[in-house]
Amino acid sequence: MARKKSPGAGPVRVCIVGMGIGRSNGRPLHANPRAKVTALCDVDEKRMREFADELKTPVAFYTDFKKMCADPEIDAVFVGTPNQLHVPIALEAVNQGKHVLVTKPLADALGPAEKLVKAAEKAGVVNMMSLSIRFGGNVQWLGAQSRKKAFGEIYYARARSIRRSGIPSWSPGFVRKGGGAFRDMGVHVLDSVWWLMGMPKPKSVLGVSGAKFGPRGQGYWEYKPVPKAYSSQYASDDYAGGVITFANGAGLQVESFWASHQADELNIELFGTEAGARLSPLTVYRTRNGAPSDEKVELPKGGSGFDRIADHFVSCILDGTPCEAPLRHGLIVQEMMEAMLESAQRGREVKL
Ligand SMILES: NC(=O)c1ccc[n+]([C@@H]2O[C@H](COP(=O)([O-])OP(=O)(O)OC[C@H]3O[C@@H](n4cnc5c(N)ncnc54)[C@H](O)[C@@H]3O)[C@@H](O)[C@H]2O)c1
Repeated sequence: MARKKSPGAGPVRVCIVGMGIGRSNGRPLHANPRAKVTALCDVDEKRMREFADELKTPVAFYTDFKKMCADPEIDAVFVGTPNQLHVPIALEAVNQGKHVLVTKPLADALGPAEKLVKAAEKAGVVNMMSLSIRFGGNVQWLGAQSRKKAFGEIYYARARSIRRSGIPSWSPGFVRKGGGAFRDMGVHVLDSVWWLMGMPKPKSVLGVSGAKFGPRGQGYWEYKPVPKAYSSQYASDDYAGGVITFANGAGLQVESFWASHQADELNIELFGTEAGARLSPLTVYRTRNGAPSDEKVELPKGGSGFDRIADHFVSCILDGTPCEAPLRHGLIVQEMMEAMLESAQRGREVKL
């Protein structure tokens, strides 16, 4: 079992698994004075060497995540592999007593997500989602306003992630079963808006989804063509959207397109009884003295979402700070996402 860090102990010895998004998470963890990236894990050794050169301190290399998880010199594991491998790796890590930070989405399906959350909570380790949009400056600012009740009751919201030609073309995990636009980008806006709404209990979901571009070899990242061997593996959505209702009576319209004939946009709109808001450009809408008042908000330049994620993860481990983004949040978001996709498949509303 890994050494459990008592408050005040340090540094946290982290292994980064997956050299794609793992680098964005690994850099701020390594720069944190109370943590160190001491190991890397990837099946691609060249990618590990490149990242190790950037870190400039000695790191152990692992190509087998099971061997890595058995290393008692590792306290915490970041999981940044394709969706289909999040649960197998994170499950092994928590079963070996490691703290885990898992990139979005939590899993490629609901069953594995439930199994992981159960195991992580039983193991008593810090278990956190890495959510770069939720931890970004603008969403954090809106969250602080929401908690202060500046919007009053948030009774409706809209959230969307729309790309014109943005189907990931670098890893088939994205387009295979368990991938797809909704689990890749819909997850970001759904998680963020649900958090801004105060994390209400989902009640029902009615959605549509499909794949109109990817299987035809169109809509890929930056309009670049992909080999047929890649597009022929397409077994996921390239768009999904619909309506979620919550037990508190609130409603949410959410949609995600990897490819479309529409302008690129990532946005959230909140409808509150006292004020409304938009994520981009960050704006608060009110009525003052019987007239509309639109306040554009300019935040000072701060750290990135990944910086805040790293700081919070380390603080949860070393200071016992309650985790603001536990895997359980990822599980509830996964429930809503899977219900959306199931509703689309069945052609009817899904009750949760
Ligand atoms: N903003 C964000 O938080 C954000 C951004 C991009 C991607 N992601 C998530 O990160 C995940 C990976 O996406 P990516 O763009 O980094 O992909 P990627 O293909 O660039 O990186 C994935 C890495 O995992 C490695 N890998 C595959 N199988 C492995 C195994 N068995 N053991 C160890 N390593 C293995 C691959 O070799 C590759 O280097 C996805 O789930 C995606 O949703 C999150």
